[in-house]
Amino acid sequence: MRRFFIETWGCQMNVHDSEKMAGLLGRHGYVPAVDVGQADLILLNTCSVREKAARKVFTRLGMLRSLKRTNPQLLIGVTGCVAQQEGEEIFRRAPHVDLVMGPRNIAQLGMLLEQARRDGRSISLARDDDPIDFPSGTTARSTGPRAYVTVMEGCNKSCTYCIVPYTRGREVYRPAAEIAAESADLAGRGYREIEFLGQNVNAYHHGEDDLASLLHMADRIPGILRTRFTTSHPGHLKKRIMDAMRDLPTVCNHLHLPAQSGSDQVLKRMQRGYSRARYMQKIEYLKNQIPDMTFATDIIVGFPGETVADFEASLELLKEVEFQQVYSFGYSPRPGTPAWDTDDDVPREEKSERLQRLIALQESIQIRHNQRLVGRVFEVLIDGTSRLDQAVARGRTACNRIVHVRGGELAPGGIVHARIIKAHTNSLTAEGIVPVPRLDSDRTPGYKGETVSTSRR
Ligand code: SAH
Ligand code: SF4
Ligand code: F3S
Repeated sequence: MRRFFIETWGCQMNVHDSEKMAGLLGRHGYVPAVDVGQADLILLNTCSVREKAARKVFTRLGMLRSLKRTNPQLLIGVTGCVAQQEGEEIFRRAPHVDLVMGPRNIAQLGMLLEQARRDGRSISLARDDDPIDFPSGTTARSTGPRAYVTVMEGCNKSCTYCIVPYTRGREVYRPAAEIAAESADLAGRGYREIEFLGQNVNAYHHGEDDLASLLHMADRIPGILRTRFTTSHPGHLKKRIMDAMRDLPTVCNHLHLPAQSGSDQVLKRMQRGYSRARYMQKIEYLKNQIPDMTFATDIIVGFPGETVADFEASLELLKEVEFQQVYSFGYSPRPGTPAWDTDDDVPREEKSERLQRLIALQESIQIRHNQRLVGRVFEVLIDGTSRLDQAVARGRTACNRIVHVRGGELAPGGIVHARIIKAHTNSLTAEGIVPVPRLDSDRTPGYKGETVSTSRR
C-alpha cells in the first residue's frame, strides 16, 4: 500500500485543495503517512503571496532530497500557487521534483502520478478559462464538523501588490445547483457548518444567482446550523448580501473583510477600489443591523510610499472598528505585479517596527474586547479538544471566537451553551451550562457527527 503526505501552506483555498487531493489519493489506493519519512508520495501545496512563503518551498525541497536515496520509489510533487507561478522552472531549480501541478488541475492528479511514474516527470498548469471540475464526494475533509465548499476560483481584481490573480487565474463560478447539492450532501453526512470559499467570494454570480442566493439556499438545508464565507472584497459587499447576513439565522455574525490600509492615498495606489469612508459605511451598517457582529481584517504595512501618517491611519482604523482579529503583513514585492516596478521604499526595519506596533495595539484591543464578554452565554459548536487538556472541549461561537469549554459536551459536532469565565487575547474560557439535547440520527454516517437540535444563532 502506498502512503502520501501533504504539506500545506497559504490560505483556506489551499487547505481545501489539500483535502481534495487527499480524497483523490484515497481513490487511487493511497493511505495517509504519519510523516514524510514514511511516505511514497510527498506533495508540497504551496503559497506565493509573499516572497518568504515562496522561498520556503525550495528550502523544503532541499531538505526532502535525501529521502529519495532511502526510498527510490518516492515521488515528490509541488502543487498550489508556486507551482502555477514557477512551472518548469521548478524542475530546473530542484531536479528531484517529479510532479508540478497548478491549483486548477487537481482533478488530474491520478493521471499525473501515473505519468510521473512512467515517464519520470509530469506537469500540468492551468489556463485562465479552465472550469472548476472536481469529482464531487471525493474530498477528504479534515476540519471536524465544519466543511469548506468551493463556490468560485480565481480573482478578477488587480490590487497592485497581489500575485493571486496570476496564480489562480480569472474568476470562474460553480453553478448554484452544484453548490446546493454538495452542501446538502454534507449536511446529510453530519457536517454542521459550511464555509463558502472563493478568493473574491462575494463577487460570486452564476446566471441569476449571487452570494446572497447561496446563503438563502444554505439556510434552507436541514442540519446546516451555520454558514460562513471567505474572503470578501469590500467593493463587492452589496446590500443584498449584508441583508441576507442579517435576516438568515444560519449566517454567522462574523465577517473577514480585508481593509489592507486605513489611508486613502495608500488604498488608491493599491487600486483597492474603495475609500476608508466606504469601508467604514459597510462596517457600520453591519454593526448596526446585526447583534454581536465581529470583523477580521488583513492589513499590509510598508506599502511603497506609506508615510508615518498613512500607517497611523491604519492604526486608527483598528481602533475605530475594533476588529476581533487582524492578519498583518509587511509588504513583499511580487514579480509580475504592478507594484513590482515601484520603489520598495519603506526599509525592512521600519516595516517590522510598524508591524510590531500594529500587533501590540491589536492585542490590547482584543483583550479589552474579550474581557467585556465575561459572564455572557454563547452557543459554541464543538470541533475538538483543547491542545493542553484533552478533557476540555474546544469550539467556536457564531461570531468566530475560539472557546474552551469546561464541563460541557465533548463530542465534535455538538452544540453547548457556555458561560464565559475568562478572557484571553485569542480565545475565551467558558463553563458549559446547558448541553443542547441530541436527537438520534438516522442519517448516513460519514463525518461522525450526529443530528443536533438547536436554536440557531
Ligand atoms: N482575496 C483576498 C486575499 C488574498 S491574499 C482579498 O482580496 O482580501 C491574503 C492577504 O495577503 C491579502 O489580503 C493581503 O493582506 C496579503 N498580501 C497579498 N499580497 C501581498 C504582498 N505582496 N505583500 C504583503 N502582503 C500581501
Ligand atoms: Fe489579491 Fe486583490 Fe484579488 Fe484579493 S482582491 S486576491 S488582494 S488581487
Ligand atoms: Fe497563497 Fe495562493 Fe492562497 S498565493 S494565499 S495559496 S491563493
